Amino acid sequence: MQVVILAAGQGKRMRSDLPKVLQPLGAKPMLGHVIDVAQALDATRICVVYGHGGERVREAFANLDVHWALQQPQLGTGHAVQQAVPYLLNDGTVLVLYGDVPLLQAQTLSRLHAAAGNHSLAILSVMMDDPTGYGRIVRDSHHRVTHIVEHKDASEAERNIREVNTGIMAVPAHFLSRWLHALKNDNAQGEYYLTDIVAMAVAEGVPVVTEQPEAVWETLGVNDKLQLAALERIHQQNLAQQLMTDGVTLRDPQRIDVRGELICGRDVEIDVGCVFEGRVLLGDGVRVGAHSVLRDVEVGAATRIAPYSCLEDSHIGNGCHIGPYARLRPGTRLAEDVHVGNFVEIKNSQIDAHSKANHLAYVGDATVGKRVNIGAGTITCNYDGANKHRTIIEDDVFIGSDTQLVAPVTVGRGATLGAGTTLTKSAPADELTLSRSKQLTVPGWKRPTKNSSK
Ligand code: UD1
Ligand code: CA
Repeated sequence: MQVVILAAGQGKRMRSDLPKVLQPLGAKPMLGHVIDVAQALDATRICVVYGHGGERVREAFANLDVHWALQQPQLGTGHAVQQAVPYLLNDGTVLVLYGDVPLLQAQTLSRLHAAAGNHSLAILSVMMDDPTGYGRIVRDSHHRVTHIVEHKDASEAERNIREVNTGIMAVPAHFLSRWLHALKNDNAQGEYYLTDIVAMAVAEGVPVVTEQPEAVWETLGVNDKLQLAALERIHQQNLAQQLMTDGVTLRDPQRIDVRGELICGRDVEIDVGCVFEGRVLLGDGVRVGAHSVLRDVEVGAATRIAPYSCLEDSHIGNGCHIGPYARLRPGTRLAEDVHVGNFVEIKNSQIDAHSKANHLAYVGDATVGKRVNIGAGTITCNYDGANKHRTIIEDDVFIGSDTQLVAPVTVGRGATLGAGTTLTKSAPADELTLSRSKQLTVPGWKRPTKNSSK
């Protein structure tokens, strides 16, 4: 099977500088979804017809094995497919898809492809209560398809037909190139209509068959932000259903957003309002609290992420406790049973097993050993205004609250830092180090009182 994807149209109603087919659905450009399904079908050749948005569209998929056919100017869907012909082989079946119809499922398309075989033209059609704007499938008294008429060219009687052309077709390649050659543009829009090949097939006695999608939403196209949002919801619903089928507990399948790939182990629970971006892996028994955002993270088994946590580009071990309100920034690596509590920010740091930073801390560019306790308000001063420096905290260190570690600095194994310390030189192992002015009591001191005024 060969696939032609029509993606040259302008998409004016998007009112956006981003070309229409690059508008994201689940964070992936719409055209990306269409290319994905073509690849899932094992297409021997994929040709994208592009025009509006030009090189930007091409560049977005520069690393893919697809052919690009420029259509300039855009003279209709038939003219568009014609631009792809030089890139196609003259045998097998050609499947025509639209770059702005992103939710078509592989099963539906394989059925359509099978229906065409090598000798028939197959059209994907749907019944619509309000078919306004669509091309209608016109049939004779024996219910055989005779042609497709575009809404703008249709008579009153034809406009009452509820079976519409989705635009998706499968056509044997050797017919296609010949028919496209014969297209004329003597119609209401002065365009070369791909749909006119249906009447040509009928005239030559080539069988024309129709197939229906499993679900109507598969064939919905996107012309504006409202339709884009509607399809986004359908897409998210589909992903949520798949997750639940795979055994994931979603507290509310309507309130999850997966903008990338979410891979879950057994008995994973996800509370409402979570957003998953990039590639996220959740191990067995992981629980993600409400309104957390995870991007490109790997979370080990049995780890709990409490609500409102924000995790990015991080690797979290087994049995960790994260949040609520934790922020893990890129380069965070936590070993097992690490506790990161509320308002703790960690960046580009490794924290080894059983260590804890439970409240209000900043750990940046640090290497933290095992069983370390980082007190509330502790900060690694990793940045001197020009360069970043590392802090090394060895195993079994206890850091008192409100400590500043001015990097580069090392805290030796088993050391204790007294609360409020500003550490500017390395602290020796197993000793108590503190920097604190001696406590003073002023005997007999009295608080000032307010002047009495008349
Ligand atoms: C087309 C069909 C119509 C069908 C409808 C379904 C034709 C003549 N009509 O109508 O029967 O019901 O789709 O949505 O085929 N495109 C190009 N180059 C062009 C024109 C279009 O690449 O010169 C692309 C568009 O970007 C879009 C797709 O083809 O992805 C369909 O174009 P659109 O203008 O939406 O087609 P309709 O007139 O709606
Ligand atoms: Ca359209």
